[in-house]
Amino acid sequence: MDKKWWKESVVYQIYPRSFMDSNGDGIGDLQGIISKLDYLKTLGVDVVWLCPVYESPNDDNGYDISNYRGIMHEFGTMADWEELLAGLHERGMKLIMDLVVNHSSDEHAWFVESRKSKDNEYRDYYIWRPGKDGKEPNDWGSFFSGPAWKYDEQTGEYYLHLFSTKQPDLNWENPKVRQEVYDMMTWWLDKGIDGFRMDVINVISKVPGLPDSSDGSGCGEHYINGPRVHEFLQEMNREVLSKYDIMTVGETVDVTPEDAALFAGSDGNELNMVFQFELMGIDSGPTGKWEVTPWKLTKFKEIVSKWQTELQGKAWNSIYLNNHDQPRQLSRFGHDGEHHNVSAKMLGTLLHTLQGTPYIYQGEEIGMTNVRFKTIEEYKDIETLNMYKDYQKRGHDDSEIMESIYTKGRDNARTPMQWNGEVQAGFTTGTPWLAVNPNYKEINAENALKNPNSVFHYYKKLIELRKKHDVIVYGDYAIINESNEQIYAYTRTLGDVQLLVILNFYEQPAEFKLDEQIRFQNKELLIANYDVPVEEDFHQISLRPYEARVYKLQGVE
Ligand code: NOJ
Repeated sequence: MDKKWWKESVVYQIYPRSFMDSNGDGIGDLQGIISKLDYLKTLGVDVVWLCPVYESPNDDNGYDISNYRGIMHEFGTMADWEELLAGLHERGMKLIMDLVVNHSSDEHAWFVESRKSKDNEYRDYYIWRPGKDGKEPNDWGSFFSGPAWKYDEQTGEYYLHLFSTKQPDLNWENPKVRQEVYDMMTWWLDKGIDGFRMDVINVISKVPGLPDSSDGSGCGEHYINGPRVHEFLQEMNREVLSKYDIMTVGETVDVTPEDAALFAGSDGNELNMVFQFELMGIDSGPTGKWEVTPWKLTKFKEIVSKWQTELQGKAWNSIYLNNHDQPRQLSRFGHDGEHHNVSAKMLGTLLHTLQGTPYIYQGEEIGMTNVRFKTIEEYKDIETLNMYKDYQKRGHDDSEIMESIYTKGRDNARTPMQWNGEVQAGFTTGTPWLAVNPNYKEINAENALKNPNSVFHYYKKLIELRKKHDVIVYGDYAIINESNEQIYAYTRTLGDVQLLVILNFYEQPAEFKLDEQIRFQNKELLIANYDVPVEEDFHQISLRPYEARVYKLQGVE
């Protein structure tokens, strides 16, 4: 058992634009976050992951950085940021920053120089190519619709942008680029931060020659887990990461557990853990995320179990069910109507009792839900807006496109945090940059704090349990009653202690009967989302809608 603080921690993700506005301009900011540090302390989280707060023209809400060492003016100043770091540290919490270095903004000084001329000293900081037969240099597509290349008049060449046209890809083949990134990381670490979340870090190495995709799909085979990605991350680890006691989590698209074990293996020469997307693809169709497809619990269990068992002892999982790029977990995997409270708790139970570091996304702890704005004009996310135009061009029906956006769009997660039932949910005194979800009168932090039966207090208890029971952090995972279509049940075992987790994923009641031999007895109910009779035996239970229970068992040899 290799004990580490980042395995024992619970992370809370903040999307600053939507967290708390302190100056009435409708945009969340650093002073807003500072004003809510006691709220985070009450919840009990250990680490805050701050989405990008660097200078940015905000084509992709800060994921397009124009100055890696400056703070976005709308969010405040470096002095505010320093106050935030100190405020977290004073309260015993840590801070990890977003590191976005697959690409920069096209307004970054490097790119401004790079596009000036073919022999500019920064030309090779980015990936420039002449066109092929009057068209793009290859068939790669952007993650945000359309080709991944943009023609630039000034020098008559194309530059690569895997995301928006304002997010040109940095050229990691160039050692000067890598050195710039390492220096910048060291600069932030020396300011005292506790780690990094690394944006799409497994696409930084592109296959030399930048060939067309072999199947004509334009997809990522020539840059996902590219040929030099491990070499680059090992270099980054040697040059920077290994010198500090920090945590690192890499966002990695389209990876298998074998890949993850290379990025985040126990040998520790790259990263500590990765975010993988397999579960997030469960309701996507063959054409991708916008093709909404029903999901089945058996498939859900298969994916989670695969990651739990295949990384066990080899690498460390990060556990999340939503973030700023995903719809709200409650609307996606739970029930955001009548069973709001119990289903939010059921999903929280899963999040906190799997093996891996749990990540809570702002608002999840009060059960925030997806939103349905009437018109496309109310949406702000570049991915959503580009998709809307693209699907319209291809002749899709408007209501069908809106349905996809309601189910999958990123703005579902980006509506302002609901602090109270007052004007604009207490997020701002001005007009919010993105409208608040109309359900804020019921679903808000003030109500949650007051009500001992709230999702918030349940999350708080889950976090407390993690601190008390090593088995929650380090226990080995094993699925039980695997083929059950309605119940997700598993054990976590550490020495002679075992957790038994039983979750009803549906609104229909369900009969749980332990198929397996459990060699542990002496049950103690650690947490449940309904009142449970003390005398009830765990071998056979009638579960209520979305019921969740966690028992702690002790070995009887
Ligand atoms: C992943 C980030 O999480 C997402 O928000 C962003 O749009 C892309 N990477 C591009 O940076």
